Amino acid sequence: MTAPDPAEDTVSDATFAAEDAGHPAPTGAGAATITPYRDGPLIVRGDFRLVDTDGVEIDPGRRTVALCRCGKSGIKPFCDGTHKRTGFSAASGPASPRPAARIPRSFDQPGPESTDPAAG
Ligand code: FES
Repeated sequence: MTAPDPAEDTVSDATFAAEDAGHPAPTGAGAATITPYRDGPLIVRGDFRLVDTDGVEIDPGRRTVALCRCGKSGIKPFCDGTHKRTGFSAASGPASPRPAARIPRSFDQPGPESTDPAAG
């Protein structure tokens, strides 16, 4: 079973409200949940601020939004459903951990691959 694509109807608040009913609310005050939909947009739910690279606020117009990740939307940064027509393909989750996730968290105990001269 595949998850419904909320970008199918990007102009219907009712669609997003119905989608929200099937998803857990973000935890914690001010928390947002971002879900990469398989072959589709990033769905942002919860309390969030959307700003451009200059920090200027972008009015999302609703509490749940679909952000384009295919690069083909005519209303970027929002999804307009174009990903369906272009055959955009992407998994919902990562196939493997991000390289940054493999970086040792403790700088006191560097791994054997460390090239940090200060590490000794
Ligand atoms: S992800 Fe939907 S138009 Fe890009």
